Parts: sequence; structure tokens; C-alpha cells
Amino acid sequence: MDRVSRAAYETVETDVLVLGAGGAGLRGAIAAAESGARVLVVCKSLLGKAHTVMAEGGVAAALHNVAYQDTWEVHFADTMKGGKLINDWRMAEIHAKESPERVLELERWGAVFDRTWQGRIHQRPFGAHTYPRLAHIGDRTGLELLRTLQDRAVHTNGLAVHMEVTVFKLLKTEGKIAGALAYRRSDGSLILYRCAALLLASGGAGKMYRVTSNSWESTGDGTALAYDAGAQLRDMEMVQFHPTGMVWPAGVRGILVTEGVRGEGGVLRNKDGERFMERYDVERMELSSRDIVARAINSEVNSGRGSPHGGVFLDITHRKPDYIKRKLPSMYEQFLKLAKVDITKHPMEVAPTIHYAMGGVRVDPETGASTVPGLYAAGEVAGGLHGANRLGGNSLSDLLVFGKRAGEGAAAAASSSSASARAKLDQREIEDAIAELMAPLDRPAGENPYQLQVEIQETMSKYAPIVRDGPGLESGLDKILELGGRAKTCGTGGSPTLAFNPGWHTANDLHSMLVNAEALLRSALDRKESRGAHARSDFPKTDPQLDDVNFIAEKSPDGMFVGPQRRLELPGHLADVLHHSYARFTPEERE
Ligand code: FUM
Repeated sequence: MDRVSRAAYETVETDVLVLGAGGAGLRGAIAAAESGARVLVVCKSLLGKAHTVMAEGGVAAALHNVAYQDTWEVHFADTMKGGKLINDWRMAEIHAKESPERVLELERWGAVFDRTWQGRIHQRPFGAHTYPRLAHIGDRTGLELLRTLQDRAVHTNGLAVHMEVTVFKLLKTEGKIAGALAYRRSDGSLILYRCAALLLASGGAGKMYRVTSNSWESTGDGTALAYDAGAQLRDMEMVQFHPTGMVWPAGVRGILVTEGVRGEGGVLRNKDGERFMERYDVERMELSSRDIVARAINSEVNSGRGSPHGGVFLDITHRKPDYIKRKLPSMYEQFLKLAKVDITKHPMEVAPTIHYAMGGVRVDPETGASTVPGLYAAGEVAGGLHGANRLGGNSLSDLLVFGKRAGEGAAAAASSSSASARAKLDQREIEDAIAELMAPLDRPAGENPYQLQVEIQETMSKYAPIVRDGPGLESGLDKILELGGRAKTCGTGGSPTLAFNPGWHTANDLHSMLVNAEALLRSALDRKESRGAHARSDFPKTDPQLDDVNFIAEKSPDGMFVGPQRRLELPGHLADVLHHSYARFTPEERE
């Protein structure tokens, strides 16, 4: 294809453009369409394939079907305590209050939950939730949630889907979002989307690490697109290592082992058979919060008490085989097929795996609006709800609650947007963005994008691991900046074609990974304390002075700027809820 046709694009118009077809994108799209907007969902992969499925064990909501004492107040307090108090408290309040209704709505839309003997939605225990709170479908909750939303979406008027399309640039007019540029992954053809509001729901950036539960799509595109468009990002230092990923065989390392195993009574042991969580959180043991369990496993391995392949053992064999197969069918099959281990008879080998970004685009809790007019965000790409550590199951309720709110917010913005704002787009900006996208195709001798991707993953795994320190973070930042320079010269070697060119796609993903990595490292350097998922060996204590501080990353004329920002004080009614429950903080949580 020659230069002229490379620069040609098709124009598609809609009111609300949604990036991402996981739970947040679909819930947002349904809400926007039901508000009367024309909605187009664009996804990098296929509809139904999203990281949402990796929230296997359940969706957290104070339905109080199993523990009658559960209330939104307890869920709120658990979420704030789990997030080590740097959460956006209004998001935590909305989430705790609205998640029961969102789960019941999902049930009305056809989700087939496991049941209590009275026929109510069953709820299982999960780490750091005071009561059994996770509504679930075996260990396939995220999948069922997606299936239900997908079914609802395809039956919603005014909602269309474009699959296997990557957005590489957001466009603004008069300071407001007015469109996006994208390419089809199959043939490289370009699309100019014109829209009046855009909802980012593109998930996280787990692929910047070597060992992760995330799939290839999770390269942090949404946070990078928002950052490039001038939006603020918050808490980018906070990434979650899920305590239990597979470790063996090497080819499956990082695949998630649901917390549902521990919720159903699974115990963790080291190579000496010791139930080591007694030394890390004697009250909650395996159902401590994820940051604590992940660090505990890390310590056992580093102290030479790990399993043969560098993990620990997770054992559920004390449960009856039929029970295991019914409650954890995916885990049973996953270990049998991938590791040739029958989990009804033998323990699993597990170790921490990068799973989730707590940080992301800074949003207004009520509407999901970012700091850029017309740009909205929901789900993992948005920051705030989870603070320094997310509780398991809070991601699925997050994307239902805030997906709906952000979809409604985007639809309202679209309906009030003027025709003149929609009409104008900067042609020069469009041409420059296309030229930048195409440049790697014309650099036969450029750096290999796969090599650069591996180096990003090695750098983040080495310098921003579970326990970090200042010199390591500095070295990581230097390396990421160097890789940023090299990425500008990368090429697709002998493959200049636009069709089915994964090297070219990877070259485009590098920018997103680099923005996320830089924001993480800079924010981690600035947070000189340990809090939640951010553990620093050189600052091992939590600093109470930073209880109300978030670190914000944004674009400046001199590059990325990261600085502290104080939050508004917790209002009286929420402070009462939290202080009432403070008595129940375990010693580990108070640390
Ligand atoms: O372990 C899990 O099932 C994951 C749940 C989540 O991340 O919310």
C-alpha cells in the first residue's frame, strides 16, 4: 500500500464512543444508549474477550443473603480500610450503596448465580471482606457477567460494536473531546471516529510486567490516551499483585488462580508444610487483604521456604472432590489440563502475579468525567475507588456501578454538545498522528518492537516489584526513559505491510506501556512510605501525613509531571462509619 492510501481514512459518526468491551464498557454503553445516545463500542479484541473474565471468584455487594449483618456501611469501611484510606471516599460510598442494585439488575437480565438453600444469590467469603459478600457463579463470575451484559447490549437499540480496532489518538476541538483515530487490526485501514463524548473503559496495563494474569490487550492504552489528551492520572504507583497465579509449567506462569479457592477454605503452606499466614495475619490468615498475602508469599520464597518452582502451596484437598468440582470448576480443569495436577488430590503451586491497576484516570465520582471535557472513564482504567489496594470482587461491582454512571454522564454530555464543536477537527493534527502511527513501517533497520516490549517487562519486574526501593525505582525510571527514546526509532523490519502485522501493532502499544511505566515509577518515587500495594524497603512505615494525599501525574511542557494533591476531608457521616469500624482494624492493617 502506498503513502496516499495509508493516509486515507473512513469517517464514522456517533454520539458516544466507548473504548473497550469488557464489563465497564458494556455497562456504560447500555446506560448511554438507554439515555438516548447513539453509541459505538470499539474493542481491540473480540466482543466477550476481556480481563473482566479474570475476576473469577465473585462480585462484591452487601446483599446480606448469607451474613444478615452485612450493610453498605461495612462494605464501605472494608473498601476504605483495604485501600489504606487514600481511596476517593465518595466513590467508595456510591459503590457500597449501589452495588447490590447493580447485581440484582444483572440477575434480572439473566445472570445465573449460585444459590443459597432458600434460593437467594449465594455469597462466599473473600479476603478482607468482613462478611461473605461475593455473589458468584462457581469460579466463572466475570465470564457470566460479561455474557449477560453482552446479551443485553446486542438487544439494546442504538448500540453498535466495532471489533479488532485499536484507537491510537484522541482528538479535541475547542478543548473538548471530539473524536478518535483508530486502525483495523486485520488490514490496517484507518477510521476517524467523530463523537461528542468518549468513554474510556479499556482496562489496565498488566502487560508492562513479565508475569501477569492480563492478556495481550492490557497495554494501558486508555491511561496513555487520556494522559496524551491532557487528563490527570492518580495513584499510578498502586498496582496489585494478586497473591495466587500459576507458576508451573513455565509457559502458564501468571495465569490466575482465583481467590475463590481460599474463599472456599484453601490454605497456603510453605515447603515445610507450615501454614505461614499465621506469621503475617493471624486473625484473617489466607483471607487477609491481597497486598499482605502477596508480600507474605514473596517473603517465604525469598527466605528459601518456597516450592520447587518458586511459589508456595495452595491446598484445597480437605474439601470433597465433588464440592471442589462444583465450586471451582475452572480451577479443576485449568490445573488438570495445563499442569497435569488434580487439585482434588494434590496442592497447587502458586505465586503472585500482576493483576490490576488501582491507579488510573482521575474521575468525578458522580459522572465518571475526567479532567478533560467530554472524556469519561470507568472500570480499571479509572482510579480512585480502590485506593492503595483493591479488595477481590470489588472490581466487578466497580465496573457495574461506575460503568452505568459514566455511560449516563457521557450521554448527557453528548446531548448538550453543540453542533459547531462536533464539526471542527484539526486536519494537521490528524495527519501528524497518522504519520507517527505509520512511521515504524518505513524503518526496516529500526529497533525490534518485541525486544523493546521484553525490555519494558524486564525493567518493571526488576525495579518495581512487590517490595521496591528508591535506588531501584530511579534505575527503572532511567531505563524506561531510555527505552522511550529507542521506541521512537523502532521499525517493523522486513514487514512493511498493513495487513496482519503484529510487529506494527506492538510498536504502537509501546507508547502506552511506556506512559504507564513512567507514571508508576515517578509516583512510586514520590510516595516515600509503604501503603497497601506500594511497599518500600527504604520507607517501611505508613506515613499518617500522607493519609489524605494522592499523587497526580499529568503532561507538562517539560514532560510528565507528578505531584501530591490533598483530598477533601471525609464528611462527618462517613468518618463516623469508618471510626466505628476502626476498632476492627487488625494490627497488620494499622501498620
Ligand atoms: O481471584 C479472583 O477471582 C479475582 C477477583 C478479582 O480480581 O476481583
